[in-house]
Amino acid sequence: MMHSLVKDSLKASSGSNIGSGSTQFAKLTLPNGKEINLPIHQASIGQDVIDISSLYKESQMFTYDPGFLSTASCESKITFIDGEKGVLQHGGYSIEELARKSEFLEVAYLLINHELPNIQQYQDFRANVKKNMLVHEQINILFRGFPRRAHPMAIMVGAVASLSAFYHETMDVTSSEGRMDVVYKIIAKMPTLAAMAYKYSIGEPIIYPQDDLGFAENFLHMLFAKPTANYKVSPTLARAMEMIFVLHADHEQNASTSTVRLAGSSGANPFACIGAGISSLWGPAHGGANEEVIEMLQEIATKDRIPEYIKKAKDKNDPFRLMGFGHRVYKNYDPRAAVLKKSCDEVLHELGIEDPLLDIAIELEKIALNDEYFISRKLFPNVDFYSGIIYKALGIPTNLFTVIFAIARSAGWISQWKEMIEDQAFKIGRPRQLYTGHIKRDYLEIVKR
Ligand SMILES: CC(C)(COP(=O)(O)OP(=O)(O)OC[C@H]1O[C@@H](n2cnc3c(N)ncnc32)[C@H](O)[C@@H]1OP(=O)(O)O)[C@@H](O)C(=O)NCCC(=O)NCCS
Repeated sequence: MMHSLVKDSLKASSGSNIGSGSTQFAKLTLPNGKEINLPIHQASIGQDVIDISSLYKESQMFTYDPGFLSTASCESKITFIDGEKGVLQHGGYSIEELARKSEFLEVAYLLINHELPNIQQYQDFRANVKKNMLVHEQINILFRGFPRRAHPMAIMVGAVASLSAFYHETMDVTSSEGRMDVVYKIIAKMPTLAAMAYKYSIGEPIIYPQDDLGFAENFLHMLFAKPTANYKVSPTLARAMEMIFVLHADHEQNASTSTVRLAGSSGANPFACIGAGISSLWGPAHGGANEEVIEMLQEIATKDRIPEYIKKAKDKNDPFRLMGFGHRVYKNYDPRAAVLKKSCDEVLHELGIEDPLLDIAIELEKIALNDEYFISRKLFPNVDFYSGIIYKALGIPTNLFTVIFAIARSAGWISQWKEMIEDQAFKIGRPRQLYTGHIKRDYLEIVKR
């Protein structure tokens, strides 16, 4: 709970005398001269927050912060980002180390439990995920209602939300076992549904999940195996996919995660809430950027055309943006992009692939990082800049890129949903507004307008 966390962290970090009520406050002077004290809650690391929850009661005014540039919407222990320094940590562990050493399900366990699992805990967690990998056979019929050429993200929005129709009456989110059941089901069924969406789009029979395969290995198997032949997933591919899942697992309160929290704050069915998160992720300013990066690199096609695209990106009258560049939080190199850039080289090398798109990406990055426009706006490559090149090397079709992001991020979404509903202090999310429309006026009958 917010209150106890603040007390603890104050004790730990500043030695303040909580018992005597001495805590830090920010003083705010209202237009009528009244002064109010707003408590400051201390973060264990990163930005402290000014608690404005009493502001409306005291002042009859709201705060205004479009795009949430200065607003913390919740308290969380899951993920820490320092955008200025390019740091991303889950439960205190750096993303670079997790990407190198952990499997995706270990990281999912960490997001949910705030600790890495020991061997027994990990075996139990994996077993619970594995036994939930199948989806109801009825979902096959749902798939048949979609046009074959539908974007797989459109299918994912519908298919994942449709799980709420299968698990509603039987679901009990008031017990911790019930909530964990939701966690297992979401993490387990996302890859199955994603692979089904792909197989449906290419008209191939669905491949069922296999218990004896690793998480990423199983996903690749469901994507690429055919009933007519034995298929063995290459360990290089499986390891690369596992790392991609780790890198995308959570990113604190971004648009899709905030969407899941806001939808869930009304007590809505969590499967439907994850469907809402997938919708938000799909946008090109969020997860949809990875698809657009590859399209952009393909359009640029040769290094000599890069300056033309840099010029377009800088032109205020041209809506074109350099896809895979810039980030709301990172004002330094996105640490996930650094990991991906390195593994891009390794994966291509191991698979013996020479992709000219990688050369274009490296050259584009070099030029942009030395250009005053990008330097002054602190625009660096983000996670989506290099991920598409690896996906391409792994044989993943472009329209599945954002779906892969969604599979990984479902671990973050469901951890954040769980953290929210387990916080006794949580309320339904209900932002306010600055109203600038008409003031009260008389109704005119239609014939007189
Ligand atoms: C990610 C993103 C939405 C962040 O947006 P934001 O924090 O709201 O930043 P803004 O849109 O206010 O941009 C700040 C400035 O940088 C410019 N800018 C931001 N990203 C840019 C890009 N990719 N290419 C060119 N210019 C860019 C904006 O035009 C703006 O310039 P101005 O100050 O002269 O008006 C934005 O950088 C973007 O659209 N990037 C491309 C899409 C992408 O890769 N998304 C994946 C994110 S993981």
